[in-house]
Amino acid sequence: MNEQQLQTLLEQMTLDEKAGQLIQLATPFLKGSSDGGQITGPMEGMGINEKVVENTGSVLGASGAKEIKNIQKVHLEQNRLGIPLLFMSDIVHGYKTIFPVPLAVGCSWDLDLAEKSAEAAAVEASVSGIHVTFAPMVDLSRDPRWGRVMESTGEDAYLNSEFARAFVRGFQGDFENDNQRVASCVKHFAAYGAAEGGRDYNTVDMSEWQLRENYLPAYKAALDEGCEMVMTAFNILNGVPSTGNKDLMRELLRKEWGFNGVLISDWGAVKELIPHGVAEDEKEAARKALEAGVDIEMMTECYINHVQNLVSEGILSESLVDEAVLRILKLKQKLGLFDNPYRGADEKLESELILSDNHRATARELAAKSAVLLKNDGALPLKKSQKAALIGPFAESHDILGPWSWLGSKEDTITLDRGIRSYAKDVQIAEGSGIDSGSSSQIQSALKAAHEADVIVLALGESSDMSGEAGSRTDIRLPESQLDLIQELKHLNKPIVTVLFNGRPLDLHGVIDESNAILEAWYPGTEGGQAVADLLYGTTAPSGKLAMSFPQSAGQIPVYYNHYNTGRPKNAPDAQERYVSQYLDSPNGPLFPFGYGLSYTTYSYSDVSLSSQVLKEGETLTISSKVKNTGDVAGEEVVQLYVKDLSGEVVRPVKELKRFERVYLKPGQEKEISFTIDESDLRYYHSNLEYLSDAGDFKVFIGCDSKANNSASFKLVK
Ligand code: GLC
Repeated sequence: MNEQQLQTLLEQMTLDEKAGQLIQLATPFLKGSSDGGQITGPMEGMGINEKVVENTGSVLGASGAKEIKNIQKVHLEQNRLGIPLLFMSDIVHGYKTIFPVPLAVGCSWDLDLAEKSAEAAAVEASVSGIHVTFAPMVDLSRDPRWGRVMESTGEDAYLNSEFARAFVRGFQGDFENDNQRVASCVKHFAAYGAAEGGRDYNTVDMSEWQLRENYLPAYKAALDEGCEMVMTAFNILNGVPSTGNKDLMRELLRKEWGFNGVLISDWGAVKELIPHGVAEDEKEAARKALEAGVDIEMMTECYINHVQNLVSEGILSESLVDEAVLRILKLKQKLGLFDNPYRGADEKLESELILSDNHRATARELAAKSAVLLKNDGALPLKKSQKAALIGPFAESHDILGPWSWLGSKEDTITLDRGIRSYAKDVQIAEGSGIDSGSSSQIQSALKAAHEADVIVLALGESSDMSGEAGSRTDIRLPESQLDLIQELKHLNKPIVTVLFNGRPLDLHGVIDESNAILEAWYPGTEGGQAVADLLYGTTAPSGKLAMSFPQSAGQIPVYYNHYNTGRPKNAPDAQERYVSQYLDSPNGPLFPFGYGLSYTTYSYSDVSLSSQVLKEGETLTISSKVKNTGDVAGEEVVQLYVKDLSGEVVRPVKELKRFERVYLKPGQEKEISFTIDESDLRYYHSNLEYLSDAGDFKVFIGCDSKANNSASFKLVK
């Protein structure tokens, strides 16, 4: 169907039918759906009638080729003009093969593998009938109290942008010609990760300068990569809820950025304009959201119940409705649904491709590369000859898939005990450790298992419901029962290797000093237990680097690497004792910084060399350093390039990540790593919001994390 045919179809539609295209319902509302479709987000009772269901334009949360084909078939029999449904679902880090949560993937700094994981997810989702995924989530996250940091790739705009592109490439590929890819939907627009106090859905208030400098780039990167849809955020932004924010969506997203794809609200966010206090009723909520440019209302009934009156009363122009409907019809056309409403849905391919060996292999490799070795006094790697005791609530837990793994299943998951047994058959496992463990009997069985062991592998963390949406925490330490367990075990004076399964940077008081080694495994997904065992026994050397800082404590939040220096930096040569920017009771810096991660080997960096001391506009500058594996085992190092603008028209971060590269090095091997930048890499938002670079002095750093001090200087001349 071409543009003209779409226009003709639009002209045949009644206003009711147009309004139907603007609503998205969960599967339980759809005839042809089996009972108990997967429901995401908060569910509200709704007064939706039969006619509305027949006219609805899209469905969320469906899965399975048979189910989706049946829903589509029944729908097409009822829909007067035979307009096919769009099927959208949250395939955020995998469909049935669950990959590590995105924050973990961010710690892999492996863009190719991230893209590969998104492609695998798209293949499994599309043969199961899904057309669109509500991913990537690219909300910059600097506050680990927020439960959804697990869904982002962390605190840096550049790293987030690179991963946003990789995920969009993986999900979408050439989806208009490849039925085994899906359209993607970048979310949550905008700045959802900056919720005050890290409390989900809470107020976001920041200068446009800060918004453009740090919080918007990753959304723009996703759209520049061709992302088809945008989802609005729950939060207000500078006083106006994102979902009713004309400046944010009509002016910036559509006019300035030129986005003409489909905009969908988050679950219930149109109707939430009422509790936000910017709409008196559903009718006003519908008007404000449509005027702001929201095409699809997810799971609430403002549009469907009020669009007709808004138009007939002359409050809303029907052309506004038409433009929204046309964007939705165009997406259906791009997905080929008018020619083939069943698109990629195929039960036979489902059985062949879902949880395939190569998808599992990708999940295992990515889980290993996403884990971050935070501490190691030599306790790792383990030897097969060692008698290991595996203790703690995650020792045998299947709860390692993380939030948004609604289609992943326990029986498919490799737990840590299974992984470790593939190396050490005689590992002792303490019985019955549950998340709320700490009962004396469980501690006794833990002590017994530990008593006869050479080394204790302690599997701790957050149950997945302590993370994810509406999973904010003010105390980001491990649960008390787990901290008690460590205190009991440390009296045995045996090496303790702590493995963490969690969705956020934690306050590691009670863990960092008590453990000989700490491996941050995050929620590593379907192959998580095997990947962690591969790391513990050294088959794979840890290579992950933190995409988000670990704070000393919650009291230090927000703490992030690319902060501003202040006028009284604590580390200045002439700094006073007291009157500097500091805490009386904590260091300023995080416990572990952005970009940090250990391996089983060590690396040395040669001095930074530059192709020139001067960078001219229109030219490039090459920045190099030789990296050598100075240890006795092979490893992969993530070499990072940071830039510091010594003086700007506004304050400039103490460092900014500009490039990175994973490099594999055998023992003793040395490689020269070179990065090329140009003037555009030095641009930033000025106080008048112009995006420009300034001539002046710069420093560049090459190293293993954001604390790198291996540097050189150059001038930008214009
Ligand atoms: C949720 C989430 C959003 C998700 C949507 C549909 O509330 O905020 O990320 O895509 O509902 O499940």
